[in-house]
Amino acid sequence: MEQTKLKELFDSLTLDEKIGQLVQLNGNFFDSNEKIATGPVVKIGIDKEKIYQTGSILNTMGAKELKDIQDRYLQKNDKKIPMLFMADVINGFKTIFPIPLGLGCTFNPKLVKKTAEVTAKEAAVSGLHITFSPMVDMVRDARWGRVMESYGEDNYLNCEYAKAMVEGYQGNGDKYSTILSCVKHFAGYGAPVAGREYNTVELGERSLRQDYLPSYKAAVDAGCELVMTSFNTIDGIPVTANDWLLRDILRKDWGFKGVVISDHSAVKELVPHGVAKDGKEAAKLAIEAGCDIDMMTATYSNHLSSLVESGQLDMKYIDEAAMRVLELKNKLGLFENPYRGADEKLEKEVVLCEEFRKFAREVVSQTCVLLKNDSILPLTKNQKVAVVGPYAFNKNLSGMWSINVDSEKVVTIYDGLKKQANENCVTFAKGSPLLDDDHLFESFGYAKNIGELVSDNPVEECQKAVQVASQADIVIVAIGEHPHQSGEGGSRGEITLPRVQVELLKEMKKLGKSIVTLIFSGRPLALSEVSQYSDAMLQCWFPGTEGGDGIADIIYGKVNPSARLSMTFPYSVGQCPIYYNEMSTGRPAKGSTHSKRFTSRYIDIPNEPTYCFGYGLTYSEFKYSPIELDSHILTPNSSIKASVVVENISEQEGTETVQLYIRDLVGSVVRPIKELKGVQKVLLKPNESQKVEFIITEDMLRFVRKDMKFASEEGDFEIFIGKDSSTENKDTFVLKK
Ligand code: NOJ
Repeated sequence: MEQTKLKELFDSLTLDEKIGQLVQLNGNFFDSNEKIATGPVVKIGIDKEKIYQTGSILNTMGAKELKDIQDRYLQKNDKKIPMLFMADVINGFKTIFPIPLGLGCTFNPKLVKKTAEVTAKEAAVSGLHITFSPMVDMVRDARWGRVMESYGEDNYLNCEYAKAMVEGYQGNGDKYSTILSCVKHFAGYGAPVAGREYNTVELGERSLRQDYLPSYKAAVDAGCELVMTSFNTIDGIPVTANDWLLRDILRKDWGFKGVVISDHSAVKELVPHGVAKDGKEAAKLAIEAGCDIDMMTATYSNHLSSLVESGQLDMKYIDEAAMRVLELKNKLGLFENPYRGADEKLEKEVVLCEEFRKFAREVVSQTCVLLKNDSILPLTKNQKVAVVGPYAFNKNLSGMWSINVDSEKVVTIYDGLKKQANENCVTFAKGSPLLDDDHLFESFGYAKNIGELVSDNPVEECQKAVQVASQADIVIVAIGEHPHQSGEGGSRGEITLPRVQVELLKEMKKLGKSIVTLIFSGRPLALSEVSQYSDAMLQCWFPGTEGGDGIADIIYGKVNPSARLSMTFPYSVGQCPIYYNEMSTGRPAKGSTHSKRFTSRYIDIPNEPTYCFGYGLTYSEFKYSPIELDSHILTPNSSIKASVVVENISEQEGTETVQLYIRDLVGSVVRPIKELKGVQKVLLKPNESQKVEFIITEDMLRFVRKDMKFASEEGDFEIFIGKDSSTENKDTFVLKK
């Protein structure tokens, strides 16, 4: 629609119609059966007359269903303004990819972009317009359940992934193959105090700007059309009512022109937060702060008009927000075609097609991190393998957010292994339930259907597994968290595996066989005990539809693993939050002049994590030369070429993930001990070597200085190039301005 026409339409809207554009409900409100639709209306207390003014709905999917809803809606909507369809399409639509934390471990933004492209293709023909993704919250605390939805603890990688995902979803805007992206949760949602979901966030402005904001900004710079506010506070002010974040930073500083949507009920929650005394005040605070859409409450719908009519709210806030929503609809072409890409025929052809499944299988093998391998893996096809554990034959491999998954289509680990091994070489026994008890899930009614949670007789179950395993040469133990032990509302105070599963592992070890442990989880776990009983360990995350085949590709050596941890694996929960790029302390545990007692350390556990950021093994072995710099002096107008020679000293072709880190030795404020600044993946044949070069420029050295400017400072820097964040392969250079 032409801009003048859009303006005419806008001018024709009543106050209530404009407010309707700012309300988001779910599909239940638009059920063809009016009686059913009344339920949710009563539940959230919205005026029934206003339902057909709603601007958007969330989490309803499928071409036919969405077309029907749009038709029913348009018949009753006076101005014939189509609704927007948004949903949580996180790690895939129906072809489910590994969870985002697994994708983070690819260290490969190009591959990750392609997952978003595939997701967009499936979602677009199924009628969706917008996904609430990517979540680019920087995370440092494995207790927080939502680390599974993030890409990990590193700023550099998070920015790369943010850009990749937005570009992947939004592409060229074609209606059959792209959707719009809503980045979330702006801002700082990944830092709840003590890792407890929905808790307060305490961040200094420097850390917020330097560590947490860049990934959202990267999404905005990549053209992301929507931003979701987070539930948390920043400096005491809930983000949904935080005009400094939503107006000054997001719109003024970053130039964001799109739509801001609240997280689910976040406008209404300003009341229990204690910054608004009632719904009316909450609505006023949120709209004035710059939150355009109220997700799933009646707060805007019930209060904005009386606020305007009584003169307590300036109409300009409603106008600007409503116009933004209309512009978004216009951008999607909904006025010309309210169904956009929804197409039942294409949906059948595209969704879960062979090509996408094949790609998902490749992605699985790029996300599993080989944590340990005492010369066990890869297996040969004639070895007798017993696969045991609650994940051995389990189709719930997609993690908490895959609300649209078709579990029947998921390839189990047992099936994947069986396909690749010689006949009769793979046997199976469950061996243990997932959980010791299920009280954690009492409030999660539907979780009860997800796999058998507990067992009446775990001892007997374990004995069966012992029998099966004793006939085998190798025992693969597939264990992990329940999918609902991570994700939203999945914070944990302990980050070990359920005891009943560790006991199974111990029993297997007692058989004297070689043990390969596959770990399924939505977070880094404390794995010291698991490691004790395992000869090889593969961190599989929740791998999605193609889990079984992708993992079997690694187990049998079709693929040489190359993923690296994008989040630190703590020694124990006591270390959380733990991250590789911690700040220098005045009393470091190593190198301080103080006696050991009076340095920054624990007296009962090590400072070092079990597996550091960037860590991951391959079936090959690589050797690094010392770093070579073509100059030791950097200026704003020059660059330094830093190189190493990486040699594959094994008989196995493989990919090495070469990582560049920099340390600023002296700054006007305390600086991190190391920061990732570059990554290169190099494929090397046996005994092949390659020179790997990184270009160092002044902009890579910028940070939020004492004067709050984002700029570099002259001085000495250390540069590290190696296989993970613990590398000591280093040199130095000086920045002169
Ligand atoms: C709440 C979650 O925090 C958010 O990530 C999600 O997009 C919305 N619910 C919508 O389902």
